[in-house]
Amino acid sequence: MSSTIPPSTLKALTRQFNHELFAAQSYLALSVWCEVQNFSGCAAFFTKQAGEEREHADKIIAHLVDRGDAAEIAAMEAPRQKFSSLGDVALHAQALEQANTRGINATLEAALVDKDYPAQVLMHWFVNEQVEEEAWAAKMVALVQRATCAGGLSSFDRHVSDLLGAGD
Ligand SMILES: [Fe+2]
Ligand SMILES: [Fe+2]
Repeated sequence: MSSTIPPSTLKALTRQFNHELFAAQSYLALSVWCEVQNFSGCAAFFTKQAGEEREHADKIIAHLVDRGDAAEIAAMEAPRQKFSSLGDVALHAQALEQANTRGINATLEAALVDKDYPAQVLMHWFVNEQVEEEAWAAKMVALVQRATCAGGLSSFDRHVSDLLGAGD
């Protein structure tokens, strides 16, 4: 079975699932940094996010395979792993989500131009998902920046999943 996906949409979907895999690796790196710094709550939160990004990649891969495409997995650059503070981590997570949203939008735009209806519907799910993802990231940045009193960051770390709604 050969691919039934128009070339530009296929290129965009392929780039996007690889980007989701990169996001998974990036969240794994954030989780490791947090664990080393004894922010165990944030480490668990980012481990969960890494799993979700992997599921996002799987969703697009399944779509490609169902339509007869081989879903080419690209070589990946190493994620950033050095951070100066939890605030730095939060800003990085937010930048990752913003980049991901740009990728989703570009993929939807390609599917619109190609009149590729299945990919459009698939990307609608991702557009909604990014609203939630950007929401927890913005909240994380705001709450970490606000945690300036003694023990503020530790308190944030203990309650991070409740505070951010875990971004399902
Ligand atoms: Fe994602
Ligand atoms: Fe995400």
